[in-house]
Amino acid sequence: MARIINAVDAVGQWFSVSIIGGIFRDLQPQAGLIAASGPCRPLMSAADLSALAAEALVDAAGLTLVPGAVDVHVHSRDPGLTAKEDWHTLAQGAWRGGVVAVCDMPNTLPPTMTREAVLFKAERAAASGLEFKLLVGVGAGNVNHVGELLAASDLPVCALKVFYGRTTGELMYDDLETLARSIPETCNKPLVFHSEDQCTVDCNQTRLASRLKDKDNSAFEVHSDIRSSAAAHQSTRVILEWARTTYKRPIHIAHVSTPLEIELVAEAKARGVLVTAEVAPHHLLFSTDDYARLGPLVKKNPPLRSPAELEQLHKLVGQGLVDIFATDHAPHLLAEKYASVGSSPSGVPGVELFYPLLWTVAKRTGLPFATALAMGASRPAELFGFAQKGRIANGFDADFAVLVPSEHVITQQDTVAKCGWTPYAGLHRTVDIVATWNRGRQVYSGPDSSLGQSFEH
Ligand code: DOR
Ligand code: ZN
Repeated sequence: MARIINAVDAVGQWFSVSIIGGIFRDLQPQAGLIAASGPCRPLMSAADLSALAAEALVDAAGLTLVPGAVDVHVHSRDPGLTAKEDWHTLAQGAWRGGVVAVCDMPNTLPPTMTREAVLFKAERAAASGLEFKLLVGVGAGNVNHVGELLAASDLPVCALKVFYGRTTGELMYDDLETLARSIPETCNKPLVFHSEDQCTVDCNQTRLASRLKDKDNSAFEVHSDIRSSAAAHQSTRVILEWARTTYKRPIHIAHVSTPLEIELVAEAKARGVLVTAEVAPHHLLFSTDDYARLGPLVKKNPPLRSPAELEQLHKLVGQGLVDIFATDHAPHLLAEKYASVGSSPSGVPGVELFYPLLWTVAKRTGLPFATALAMGASRPAELFGFAQKGRIANGFDADFAVLVPSEHVITQQDTVAKCGWTPYAGLHRTVDIVATWNRGRQVYSGPDSSLGQSFEH
């Protein structure tokens, strides 16, 4: 048995936690489960320590210990796009951000749309040591088989990703009636929607195409006009209505970017629709005003919204109306990003800054830390099938991130993503991560961390 003492939780309570097995470099087959967690007297002395019946002790010395996070929206790029990222670099980034498990999106090469593609990706992912589950993608070619993939108990599949609008290759599907028929009645894994209405986007594109030729960074604003808020509202309305009247099982709206969508989801929940919503940090920390400074580095689908919408988003997120915070970690190379406005790929990295970004979002929106933790750890774990993750509680995995207050500014040196850049440079961070543990194994140790240096007694 090992024990961490003198830890403080997100709301300032002192606690200690006991862990079955070792908690250090090696993961024993049976190790890494929380055996007990409870209040602790502040800063126990050495004499107190020797009275504890634990084989190994870690003194957290008053640092904040939170559950390892679960980021349910990352793009590993592996297989097929590994110049941008791979499972190994993704694992390093996740652990650095306090994340112990991820859900990976299907738009890799090959796309995760068949049993073979799931198994191939899973093998690569497993070799990284990062805990993961995969989303399967749906298109006209595999819609009749996605039910089987969701139901297969031997596959690490947590959900179906529906790109309800064209954002990425062959993965587009908008025939909701057929989709409802192809998912078994008993399936309770969520259908995750990328919600942007393609007709609205196409129409705007035709109307605004000439503006894409502008040379300066502000031309990227056109991207937000093309993939307008109206496009997101329209598709989210249609999806929610379909879920209420036809599908009637769990759905999840990924990276909600407009205040109206949060209100629509809240209304649908009140009417009994099994819907959850997710927000991403870029939509809460940037607005269309940031295109002038960052241009392609903040080009994203769905895109950034106006400062007025951002203010509203903050209000609604601060009220706790959104279920999940996920980074939508979507790395691209700088050379690709700095191509022309039209061909610059959409996507920004973020997983390596998970907890710092979540804490900054909490501060800006007035979200209590306990709610922020639920959005970053326990809710995603519950909704995406990580039954033993997301909480520091008896029987759960020994997953922790250790946070210290910080006055640092995020820099490009904070980047571990293979793409080598972050759009968040310059942003003040309120916390640094000094250590991350996954199932009792220390997977990240920050530059000034003495944590993890255990002592025996
Ligand atoms: O901005 C985006 N980037 N949106 C998506 O839907 C796909 C993602 C990517 O894979 O780069
Ligand atoms: Zn995404």
